[in-house]
Amino acid sequence: MSILFDASCQCFHLSSQGMSYIIQMAAGRYPLHLYWGASVRHISDDLVTRLSIYTHDNFSLHETPLDRMPQEAPVFGCGDLREGMLHVRHASGTAALDLVFQKYEIRTGTCPKGGLPRAHGENSETLVLTLADVSSGIEVELTYTLWEDSPILARHVRITNNGTAPVTLERALSCCVDFEGSDYRLLTLSGAWARERHEDFRPLVQGNQGTSTVRGASSVQTSPFMALLSPDATEENGDVYAMALCYSGSFLASVDVDQDHNARAMIGIQPFDFSWALAPGASFDTPEAYLCYSHTGLSGMSHAFHTFVHHHINQGPFALAPRPLLINNWEATYFQFNEEKLLDLARTAKKVGIDLFVLDDGWFGHRDSDNSSLGDWYDDLRKLPHGLSGLSDRIHELGLLFGLWVEPEMISPDSDLYRAHPDWCIHAEDRMRIECRHQLVLDLTRQEVRDAIVASICGALARGKVDYVKWDMNRNINMVGSAALPPERMKEFHHRYILGLYDIVSRVTSAFPKVLFESCAGGGGRFDLGMACYMPQNWTSDDTDAWERCLIQHSTSYVFPPSMMGAHVSAVPNHQTGRITPLASRAAVAMGGTYGYELDLNRLTAEELSSIRSLNERVHAWQNTLLYGTYHRLLSPYARTRAAFMTVSEDRKQAVVTFMNALAEPNQKPKLLKLRGLDPDADYRDVDTGKVYGGDELMSYGIPLSVPQADFTSQQFFLTIC
Ligand code: DGJ
Repeated sequence: MSILFDASCQCFHLSSQGMSYIIQMAAGRYPLHLYWGASVRHISDDLVTRLSIYTHDNFSLHETPLDRMPQEAPVFGCGDLREGMLHVRHASGTAALDLVFQKYEIRTGTCPKGGLPRAHGENSETLVLTLADVSSGIEVELTYTLWEDSPILARHVRITNNGTAPVTLERALSCCVDFEGSDYRLLTLSGAWARERHEDFRPLVQGNQGTSTVRGASSVQTSPFMALLSPDATEENGDVYAMALCYSGSFLASVDVDQDHNARAMIGIQPFDFSWALAPGASFDTPEAYLCYSHTGLSGMSHAFHTFVHHHINQGPFALAPRPLLINNWEATYFQFNEEKLLDLARTAKKVGIDLFVLDDGWFGHRDSDNSSLGDWYDDLRKLPHGLSGLSDRIHELGLLFGLWVEPEMISPDSDLYRAHPDWCIHAEDRMRIECRHQLVLDLTRQEVRDAIVASICGALARGKVDYVKWDMNRNINMVGSAALPPERMKEFHHRYILGLYDIVSRVTSAFPKVLFESCAGGGGRFDLGMACYMPQNWTSDDTDAWERCLIQHSTSYVFPPSMMGAHVSAVPNHQTGRITPLASRAAVAMGGTYGYELDLNRLTAEELSSIRSLNERVHAWQNTLLYGTYHRLLSPYARTRAAFMTVSEDRKQAVVTFMNALAEPNQKPKLLKLRGLDPDADYRDVDTGKVYGGDELMSYGIPLSVPQADFTSQQFFLTIC
């Protein structure tokens, strides 16, 4: 890892783990984007000379043709006619900004980002480029952080008003990369509830494209990530340039292809319905964006992101640690449970080797359906006569850990909290309050609301002596309004909500440092790196159908590692699709994430329970490889009706391979599956059959499949080095 300034070519050269990123100063004024890609020693091109010939006969920096220059911090309004990274409205009503280089600093370590989550870790270095608009006094710091063990570059922007007049930020994105050319395919993730994060590939065309959301959450409809792939890029080969945002709210990821067919890629806070008043002396920090370059296709990108999440995003005792196998009562009982029913489920769970019992929605207030009690985080003694504390004691006495569901950000109109504080929800004065799932959203921009949430949730977690928390959020924000904000600052609401969320999440997680937190949002509606800084697990989707999960987990794994993906075995017919799949297939797919169950064990046969016991022993024994191994997508479920993936332990001594056949095809010959990431010189034993294969053989010839001829069957191989 190094960050160097070469005065001879006026270049900052940032490099780590095979990646170079080079910024060239144009006559000491504008930081131009010279290069991002595979590691190079040096680039001798002079951008200004080359591009000025092309763009302008009499180029001079005074007449800057910034419109055709690749820039690090482009701004609309002083020469560049494309959409920029920043937009600042001055007190005069104009929006010009001429950001000129002032100074640079190379620091050891990372930079604080007021109230926002960020990547951490030793062995990092940061370049800070300070630019300023002399006439208004706006100062912009561009930060670039590198870690010794990662090819990922973190970027962030701090905007400070050093002038004497207030200004309004109207757009504050986290980064921009101006690519030379636009011959790329764009990968984004899109979907809906129960169909989260499906891959979308498309060629770039002139104009604007990308993905975004205005829902106040990173959402089930999209994901704060995009990647540009060179035309020849595949799973294993070719150049991939990706951006992911450490943010849980509305965002924009856009690629603008200009008149010269150059692509401008940017990611950051959604500018729609956003503004931020910046008084003299005040600063604004953008979320961190992570730039990942891979010359080994999509797999190289995923490996870099996964390792980065494990070492620099996840925090606390569960980062890189074993995770408890859990059973969640949601699909087993929904709201209809009592203490005895829960204990019956827990007793069976203990017998089959499960570690953690999770009590889902319905334990508080008088919540017999989803139409009441959110906000009233006190025990429903009708269902739990000994309260949470008594239930927790009994669960612990069984030798299980105890986990609890909460949805802290919400309030039901039918709740004591709402009756006491009808103005605490997000609402617009004199308009009908639009409910969704019979609930409203609490106004997290208000300190007193946040304090009350933290007190009541911490009270419940302490009372319940919990070991695990499922933090849910089941609706988006659609009526933006806060009693705490003056009208002219109402466009700050969405971002202030997310800052409020990070405030309560960081207070609650720090109050319970030994507790495992899993983020959830009506399924995977806030599956992002921002939440991952506080909660190492995230519920991937309410859709637990084995085949649907192949699709979801395949594309989720582009950015997020298996250790982040909550994945459970549920009942058949599946509650979301009505599909019947074999237990072995449901379990095989769930082993692609943090493993658990979501069904009534007491309705299973003795034979099924015995299989579950064996499966749990397997997961316990192989968990380190399953969660933290190197993940390889072998067959894409989007390409055919088959899927396959594998994980290889860091030392390449173990591997778990999963093959899933959706629809059986008639008249098929047995097939071979080529593996990846093994040690070619080592021999591997299949622990179930005792057969021994060479690593080279498994990767070049393949492993013979013998999947039963039926729909939704699967086959797994647990390989260990001989
Ligand atoms: C949505 C979650 O995704 C489900 O798992 C469950 O916890 C329900 N909410 C409970 O209301």
